[in-house]
Amino acid sequence: MSQRVYIFDTTLRDGEQVPGCQLTTEEKIIVARQLEKLGVDVIEAGFPVSSPGDFRSVVEISKAVQEPTVCALSRAVQADIDAAADALQYARRGRIHTGIGSSDIHIQHKFNTTREKIIERAIDATKYARKRVEDVEFYCEDAGRADLVFLAQLVEAVIGAGATVVNIPDTTGYCLPDEYGAKIKYIFEHVKNIHKATISIHCHNDLGLATANSLAGIQAGARQVEVTINGIGERAGNTSLEEVVMALNVHKELGLETGIHAPLIFPTSQLVSKMMRMPVQANKAIVGRNAFAHSSGIHQDGFLKHTLNYEIMNPQDVGVDKSDIVLTARSGRHALKHRLELLGFTFDKPTLDDLYRRFLDVADVKKEVNDKDLVELARTAIAA
Ligand code: KIV
Ligand code: ZN
Repeated sequence: MSQRVYIFDTTLRDGEQVPGCQLTTEEKIIVARQLEKLGVDVIEAGFPVSSPGDFRSVVEISKAVQEPTVCALSRAVQADIDAAADALQYARRGRIHTGIGSSDIHIQHKFNTTREKIIERAIDATKYARKRVEDVEFYCEDAGRADLVFLAQLVEAVIGAGATVVNIPDTTGYCLPDEYGAKIKYIFEHVKNIHKATISIHCHNDLGLATANSLAGIQAGARQVEVTINGIGERAGNTSLEEVVMALNVHKELGLETGIHAPLIFPTSQLVSKMMRMPVQANKAIVGRNAFAHSSGIHQDGFLKHTLNYEIMNPQDVGVDKSDIVLTARSGRHALKHRLELLGFTFDKPTLDDLYRRFLDVADVKKEVNDKDLVELARTAIAA
């Protein structure tokens, strides 16, 4: 029996903080409805105290979606928690996500306080939030750089105060996968009341390790993962939803599943990219333009013999129509013959050899040989 990993999507909060990615409330509702169709378990809809617009967005998203839990961010401050609770009043299932810095760097240079005072504030905020809603998630900001023994004390304290979920963020994208996995394992082994809460992971991509770290956290026992569509987020971004979900889907031996309807991954990626005016890089895993494109002769030949030779998932699994064979000067005869046949042209071997030589001449000049160029080459071969 597979175990469930809950998907907490923060595209509309951590993702939307990115300069240039701001959405209106109406646009956020469109994205939230799409996330609901995609099957995310939690939508982090915003940070209500930050602006009247963000407050309104959380209110309207709470009304617009039925299935996912709607979550609102707050600092460990009563005014923030009140704003979050007020904004969630229409949510069928509402969650307050409150928290405070947990690393000594944050404790000294951001809060100018002590570890003891941080624990007191964390307990007070959690208890206060629990008076307003049943479901309270606590984030231990910068847990990636926090002292492990202190982190475990903080986690135990907030679970004791009523936190239902505890988030262990690698806020600065600092950890290596084995280090982050070991951190989560330590928490499971040293926090007495750990069974009373779900452990959540939230990784940033400053070293390009967000997905690897998230998977390490999941393998160490965390059962909620915080992600964004296309990995958008502060600085180098957050963990990508599509990467974590497909890693779990491809590696069935892990025995872990999500509630994500994977064929909606690509349409959702396109929608978010368009609305947030944030292009997806061509080689982005799963959703990039080249994610299912084959361009070298060796790969094309292998792919045409059997797709499994060079693909670990079907493009249709994630909502992409089909794989692409891109014809360039690195392509071989097999790919050329295949594309010509798709265009309705069949040639004997000597003609094809000759056509291939002329194809290479064109390909050396143009970066990519398109169907129009091929039809022209084919017609010249027929006329010769
Ligand atoms: O990266 C982070 O630590 C956060 C918290 C607010 C959860 O986004
Ligand atoms: Zn974050």
